[in-house]
Amino acid sequence: MEKREQFGSTIGVIAATAGSAIGLGNIWRFPYVTGENGGAAFLLIYIVLMLGIGVPVMLSEMIIGRKSQSNAIGSFKKLVPQSYWWLIGLMGVFASFIILAFYSTVAGWTLHYVYSSVSHNLLGQNYEVFFLDFKDSSLMPVIWHIVFMIFTVFIVLAGVKKGIEKYTKLLMPLLFLLIIILCLRSVTLPGASKGLEFLFRPDFSKIDANAILAALGQAFFSLSIGMGTVITYASYIQKKENLGKIALSVTFADFALALLAGIMIFPAVFAFGIEPSSGPGLVFMTIPSIFEQIPFGNIFAIIFFLLLAIAALTSSISLLEVVVAYAVEELNLKRRSATIISAILATMMGLFCTLSWSTFKNFNINVASDCDLGGTKTMYFFDMMDFMASNILLPLGGMLIVIFVGWKLGKKKAIMELSNENKLKSKLFDLVFFIIKYIAPIAIAFVFLKGINVI
Ligand code: TRP
Repeated sequence: MEKREQFGSTIGVIAATAGSAIGLGNIWRFPYVTGENGGAAFLLIYIVLMLGIGVPVMLSEMIIGRKSQSNAIGSFKKLVPQSYWWLIGLMGVFASFIILAFYSTVAGWTLHYVYSSVSHNLLGQNYEVFFLDFKDSSLMPVIWHIVFMIFTVFIVLAGVKKGIEKYTKLLMPLLFLLIIILCLRSVTLPGASKGLEFLFRPDFSKIDANAILAALGQAFFSLSIGMGTVITYASYIQKKENLGKIALSVTFADFALALLAGIMIFPAVFAFGIEPSSGPGLVFMTIPSIFEQIPFGNIFAIIFFLLLAIAALTSSISLLEVVVAYAVEELNLKRRSATIISAILATMMGLFCTLSWSTFKNFNINVASDCDLGGTKTMYFFDMMDFMASNILLPLGGMLIVIFVGWKLGKKKAIMELSNENKLKSKLFDLVFFIIKYIAPIAIAFVFLKGINVI
């Protein structure tokens, strides 16, 4: 077998890992989940869960990946041979497919928006109608979905590490810069203060078990944790890197970008009278109206949706890489066939998501809405996949991962890996391990069971 590749520098590791973390989860999903769950109070819970649970879970995955130098399934087999712990990794590979399926649907939407802005067909429309007409049709969304998967395959085939590392280092700062410019425009819209109030003035009456589960699911989704993406990437991290520093930098960057996305979107939501709880279409229906109000808006629209597509790409690559690393190392496939086969499978599953509102629109269920009292909302196949991955598989995976590190791998080995064989010293190691062993599993189990109404 070829020698495993490694990330070249600390900045490279951070850029690649942040590239996986920062994606549609921040710019598309965070604002609408926050909108559906009441705004500011949700944000506070989100911060606590990111730091209190997200960081320890991320570190657990890093410990597993870097210690074993292997893929999401192989790493468990290597650390505890002859046991069933590898099933955690199998669940992760399964979750990758599911996330990739609905992720590439939305990524396809971003490409459609790039195309529409380039051809001057976006600005000046009624954006709600524009979005819904497109999403509910059955040809264009499929085409863009497939185009996006082809990009993903192309990069994964070319060898992710070198490409990704170089490319994310350039791209991430650009994404931040652009979002800051858009925030500045958004907060100066007339009526913007209502949006900021929604985001920053907490109303705790909106918080219930569902909202806390949604915050946990969002934290896991946004940080790319709970299913082996970080295990896979960490297996490419050099032994001399400081894992704690990397996890904190990635979490900080990821949170900052979500917050900026909120600051960019909510003022526009209120200024243009769109429901903050209008679900997955929120970004697509609000952002264009900001562009309409700025000079050279069309150019900004092109750049924005392009960056959104690229942010999605650096994440979808990490999702596909989980499957590919597994197929190459455990099933002995060539990287090329592994990539193409897994991408075809993911694309096929993705078609069910893409066609959720047209061909498969009768396949839906009504559930109690978290937000308007007594209301219901319709969940389509797309929403079901998102719910299953984010609110079930990721929390469950995260819980099993911390249980593995806390109770099976044990304190000595975990801290050896965190401290680079005692070369790094920190009082926090004991605290982190304590959270991994006791607090995180109990907290995740509690939120999870309460959120799905088991307790
Ligand atoms: N974190 C990415 C985002 O916020 C999506 C993503 C990539 C992901 N890899 C993942 C989500 C693994 C969950 C698990 O858009």
